[in-house]
Amino acid sequence: MSSEKYYITYNEIHKTIKELGENIRESGFDSDVIVAIGAGGFIPARMLRTFLCKPILTVGIAYYDMHNKPSEFPRKIQWIDEVEQKLSGKKILLVDEVDDSRVTLEYCLRELLRHNPSEIAVAVLHNKNKEKRGSLPEEVSWYFAGREVEDHWICYPWDAGDIEEHDRLAKQTADKDDRD
Ligand code: G4P
Ligand code: MG
Repeated sequence: MSSEKYYITYNEIHKTIKELGENIRESGFDSDVIVAIGAGGFIPARMLRTFLCKPILTVGIAYYDMHNKPSEFPRKIQWIDEVEQKLSGKKILLVDEVDDSRVTLEYCLRELLRHNPSEIAVAVLHNKNKEKRGSLPEEVSWYFAGREVEDHWICYPWDAGDIEEHDRLAKQTADKDDRD
């Protein structure tokens, strides 16, 4: 991964998610339910609901431990039985903010597939173009990405301590992209 950081604003994300929603609708994939992978997928899933009008269920998966150290495998930090019961026979759209190594996504997809959804698709805000360690199970019928991006570290606005400073840095990123 390059050391370059990409700062993204809420407005950019909103526009990307609107396009993502349109692509999903045009594909004909009409989910019964959105399953958001927390915490990164919560805000994108909520924005997507504005365009798809589907209920959201949430699961919590983390790749970092309590001390912010990367762990070897994704861990369930919240996985409600009720979520599983509600998924049998349903069409699921699994939503996360970024497809990086794909390990969390694969883990989540395999867990959800155990509960016999009728169809399962994935939507991510950003897909990093890189070699993936995880893979999408063949049952996944659709894969939607809001943006295809290089393997940079993306700084999301919900992680910002100072949102004005974050937006200023995002503008610098955008100005630089315009110049390149
Ligand atoms: P993937 O299956 O979706 O590719 O995710 P992967 O396991 O590779 O991601 C591991 C963690 O790294 C995830 O956090 C993911 O959100 C985070 N991550 C990967 N690339 C970036 C990036 O460019 N920017 C930011 N901000 N985060 C990135 P997590 O443990 O799920 O944390 P959270 O969702 O609770 O925040
Ligand atoms: Mg996450």
